[in-house]
Amino acid sequence: MGKGLDMRKALAERFDEELRFFKGWIDKPKAVGSIIPTSGVTARRMASVVRPDSGDAVLELGPGTGVITRAILERGIKPENLISIEYSAEFVERLRADYPGVNFIHGSAFDLDEALAPWKGRRFDSVISAIPMLNFPLPERVDLVERLLDLMPPGRPIVQITYGALSPVPAGKGSYSVKHFDFVVRNIPPAQLWIYRRSEQ
Ligand SMILES: C[S@@+](CC[C@H](N)C(=O)[O-])C[C@H]1O[C@@H](n2cnc3c(N)ncnc32)[C@H](O)[C@@H]1O
Repeated sequence: MGKGLDMRKALAERFDEELRFFKGWIDKPKAVGSIIPTSGVTARRMASVVRPDSGDAVLELGPGTGVITRAILERGIKPENLISIEYSAEFVERLRADYPGVNFIHGSAFDLDEALAPWKGRRFDSVISAIPMLNFPLPERVDLVERLLDLMPPGRPIVQITYGALSPVPAGKGSYSVKHFDFVVRNIPPAQLWIYRRSEQ
């Protein structure tokens, strides 16, 4: 009985999340990028790179409905150590209600200095990104990766989700390496995960 209720509550929450996401997609299809929220499997895989004991903050880009936010918190990151930049005001409002204590910034990841002004000088353990990279010009994508890596210790990863076969940020354009991290079939559409990092030496 209790289990049945839990299941119905979980399904209702999931449906609510998908409706919210779909509404966002109708309003701004290019900015949202995908029609359906990231799956829990993908979110947990992306968050698996986070090192909760590093003492550094985690930066999330494009949290949307918060599926990946939840997976990052489940890794043991304190809400105050999670900084998350979201472009849509509607998503930000809902995220603040759903995940109290997380630092949600209403802004663009591409205006990084402005978005992170209150955290100037802060070091990030990792960056978990679901922004639709391919909707931005290639030089801006490369520049964003370089600027993010400047804020992280060498060797620590940026994880990026995408739906095409190729990395949205190609190798050979700057001082970072590109590694295929995973292909997650249990996602609509199936998702490719990429990692960008600088070498440790
Ligand atoms: C494909 S959705 C991913 C959402 C999330 N993983 C989920 O399942 O709900 C992309 C998200 O990135 C946000 N976004 C798009 N461009 C952005 C930007 N320049 N800076 C920050 N967020 C951005 C969109 O508003 C949207 O919430």
